[in-house]
Amino acid sequence: MLNTIKQGRNNSTTYKNLVEDLGCRLKTCVRPFYIVQGQKSRWTNQFSNLCDWYTHLLKNSPTRTIHIHVLNNTITANPDNVEYMLKTRFDNFPKGKPFSAILGDFLGRGIFNVDGDSWRFQRKMASLELGRVSIRAYSFEIVNQEINRRLLPLLQSVSYGNDVVDFQDVFRRFSFDSICRFSFGLDPKCLELQLPLSKFAVSFDLASKLSAERAMIASPIVWKIKRLLNIGSEKKLHQSIRIVHLLARELITQRRKHGFSDQKDLLSRFMSSDIDDETYLRDILPIGRPRHGGLRSDEFFWLVARHPDAEATILREADKVLGTNQGIKNYEQIRELNYLNAFVYESMRLYPPIQFDSKFCLDDDILPDGSFVKRGTRVTYHPYAMGRMEEIWGSDCLDFKPERWLREGVFFHENPFKFPVFQAGVRVCLGKEMALVEIKCVAISLLRRFRVELAHTENTPRFSPGLTATFRDGLRVRVRARSVNSSELTN
Ligand code: HEM
Repeated sequence: MLNTIKQGRNNSTTYKNLVEDLGCRLKTCVRPFYIVQGQKSRWTNQFSNLCDWYTHLLKNSPTRTIHIHVLNNTITANPDNVEYMLKTRFDNFPKGKPFSAILGDFLGRGIFNVDGDSWRFQRKMASLELGRVSIRAYSFEIVNQEINRRLLPLLQSVSYGNDVVDFQDVFRRFSFDSICRFSFGLDPKCLELQLPLSKFAVSFDLASKLSAERAMIASPIVWKIKRLLNIGSEKKLHQSIRIVHLLARELITQRRKHGFSDQKDLLSRFMSSDIDDETYLRDILPIGRPRHGGLRSDEFFWLVARHPDAEATILREADKVLGTNQGIKNYEQIRELNYLNAFVYESMRLYPPIQFDSKFCLDDDILPDGSFVKRGTRVTYHPYAMGRMEEIWGSDCLDFKPERWLREGVFFHENPFKFPVFQAGVRVCLGKEMALVEIKCVAISLLRRFRVELAHTENTPRFSPGLTATFRDGLRVRVRARSVNSSELTN
């Protein structure tokens, strides 16, 4: 039932080929080839990134499922299979030991990295805390403070001249400041461009990046040996994790010393609910950050710049819902911005922040499309490819059309297993609402004050290889103040 892909094994460098093909930065001089349905081809000749190549293979498979022997990885873009692994047979498709090993040094035994009872316990705690109305209000408050005190003044200052800014960098900094304040009440001030990036921010991002890169190496033996010898990327990873852990310990000590009951951040909330174990507290801290990357506001503005009609509709809706010259007053108001919501979902359909996600099969199983999965196999669902499947989204699946999410002007939720951008089922993302509120607040606040123009209109930005989607060369834009006096917008 599965479409199978075998790696050409004509010489002893097969493994090197694979490493190169997976986008890993190891430099090899050997040209890889695959045998795909009897044809030899080098995917990099035809596709600019690995996800597009997988999409092509999945489209050509009648079941929308393929198996890559050399990686022992079954990849699917079939919503029935996704529902089966994330809900129906959830217990047979845990994250598994290989995944925990990859992120274990950084995330320890935190919620992202465990299965079984430990996960169940943390999920309960995290759902309780992240589900509170007060934490949502707190996140809304932080995001708006960051927008008004830092983001808008920064963009105002570059809007006077002809300056080009890298929106990817700006939003990465914005998102890091917001999530640090939200998670542990610490302000790294990354968006204050005159200050050097804090050691914490640099170490945190480096640790996330290097940990994720372990997953792109075909065999774990490579990074395990490098770790043992403490060399290369593993040495850097070790150093950055040490800095993050030192800082986390210091934060916890400070909270214990100075009290936490009147603090609103997530760390204080966990400490108030009688969690005292230092390692445990340290491991739950990165909630909302690793693997989530930036919240892709840069991508949002890239799409806005390419779809001026949609931009005009977003602005008209904002005037109608919020009132002309009125800012966003509360969390609830944002839910009424149906078209904006549709725009954000449509951007995540075509450009999901997490392009694919894997589990490991515990016992032999058969997926709903008839594909047999042997125990120990990695099983990957692929939101990026799923956003490009005709049978899910129709013949216009490659077109950017926010309207597909609206029914008589009101936002319509699709089946989550067709759109597993926030995962779906038992382990669905717990920060989805907060993430969406953040991107919508940023979008409205900026769009009503500034026009964003792409500095290089001819280029379609290319994605970097990695677990989270980022533009390879950033996103360079010019920002122009709109003729409406921005001070008239009151928040
Ligand atoms: C656009 C932004 C985001 C996207 C696309 C996203 C997506 C995801 C995905 C795909 C997972 C499953 C990961 C896995 O198990 O392998 C996940 C899990 C999770 N997310 Fe998010 N997320 C986002 C933002 C956030 C934010 C801002 C928070 C917290 C404030 C958050 C909290 C969590 C938590 C706690 C889990 C673990 C759930 C569990 O394992 O039970 N997420 N998210």
